[in-house]
Amino acid sequence: MEQYVIKGGNPLNGEVDISGAKNAALALLAASVMTEDTVTITNLPDVRDINVLIESIRDIGATVNRVDKNCVQINGGTINSVTVDYEYIKKIRASYYLLGALLGRFHKAEVALPGGCDIGTRPIDQHIKGFNALGAKVLIEHGMIKTEAQELLGNHIYMDVVSVGATINVMLAAVLAEGRTIIENAAKEPHVVDVANMLSSMGANIKGAGTDVIRIKGVEKLHGTEYAVIPDQIEAGTFMFAAAATNGNVLVKNVIPKHLEAITAKLLEIGCSIEEYDDAVRVIGTKDLRSTHVKTLPYPGYPTDMQPQIAVTLAVSRGTSIVTESIFENRFKYVAELARMGANIKVEGNTAIINGVDGLTGAQISAPDLRAGAALVIAGLVAKGYTIVDDIVYIQRGYEDFEGKLRGLGAMIEKVSSEEEVTKFKLKVG
Ligand code: UD1
Repeated sequence: MEQYVIKGGNPLNGEVDISGAKNAALALLAASVMTEDTVTITNLPDVRDINVLIESIRDIGATVNRVDKNCVQINGGTINSVTVDYEYIKKIRASYYLLGALLGRFHKAEVALPGGCDIGTRPIDQHIKGFNALGAKVLIEHGMIKTEAQELLGNHIYMDVVSVGATINVMLAAVLAEGRTIIENAAKEPHVVDVANMLSSMGANIKGAGTDVIRIKGVEKLHGTEYAVIPDQIEAGTFMFAAAATNGNVLVKNVIPKHLEAITAKLLEIGCSIEEYDDAVRVIGTKDLRSTHVKTLPYPGYPTDMQPQIAVTLAVSRGTSIVTESIFENRFKYVAELARMGANIKVEGNTAIINGVDGLTGAQISAPDLRAGAALVIAGLVAKGYTIVDDIVYIQRGYEDFEGKLRGLGAMIEKVSSEEEVTKFKLKVG
């Protein structure tokens, strides 16, 4: 089993290139099966979730050409099955995007019920409500979600909760439904807009993506396209907090600064300096980080996927901070691990009360999920001595070459898979 071994204490300095957004790319890959033509997707992040979804798309008969690690060509003209039961697909939450995509094109789809990160119960009632409104039946049976429609008809759909997944899934199906669909209380995340942009470039008629009302006029068919995935807002934010927590100075490149506003605002509040460029953001840390309060919210609010990273930073900031998680109910599991490194954090319900400490100390810890795993790596970079992070498979789901990018910024971190390799690392870094 692979682990990260880290020797903390080095401020991060230098430049880092951000990859394409995993969460956008998952939906774009699903959308690519909605036409018989070839779809080329570039700026694809080379991460585990993406590679598993690509394999499952190959598994239903699509012709997949992995041009290089960041580019794929998919031709859905050869699809011969609408049942996605690929062994690993259950592990990817966004596998359910294939439901909307296949339902739209073939009026029928069966996809293994998703698992994904264990951060809460994560219901899919809003996806089902949307598909039902378009005229599809949905059945959950033997670990599969099955959906089928005689015909798909546009409808007026009000989402009871703001859901990225449900908004995208319903949008996918609705672009090929007959007539008009209106999605109200839609999610406004950058990746919702990215999916709408790619679908539009394939011939779909979508207005309002990025606002809370999306209007879709169904078209008969979609055609091929070439499309570049937007930069990963969460990967960028993770490096921004890594710079802040280690009192570093990092230029985070290939980003859309507008998408990072909620993150930048918090970094300024805790005392960092920020320089914004057209497609880059520089974070300059300070020895004197201050406390703040933060509540996770749908976009443009502070992202839940950036909650553990800010909490780790606040754990070493002067004063008392309050972090409120309003999206997922089980997103503080990493706190117990941080406590073992010397953090002073008390969790009450969906709130963490953080009393800043002077420093952390290295320990053997385990990544409980993707983003918390990345945050624990930041803790390891801050901590005195050695930290070993177990279960890094979670981190590999969403961060391309995380350790390589951190090393490029001066971090002492290595991916290891044996006790001997840990010893070798310790001898090397001293
Ligand atoms: C996506 C992201 C995830 C991010 C989350 C919130 C992907 C692959 N994942 O997850 O990284 O943390 O957005 O920004 O893009 N809900 C319901 N019923 C539903 C659907 C959702 O009650 O049918 C609730 C959820 O339990 C949660 C909230 O709505 O409390 C938001 O979830 P949602 O936006 O759907 O998250 P995902 O799309 O699963």
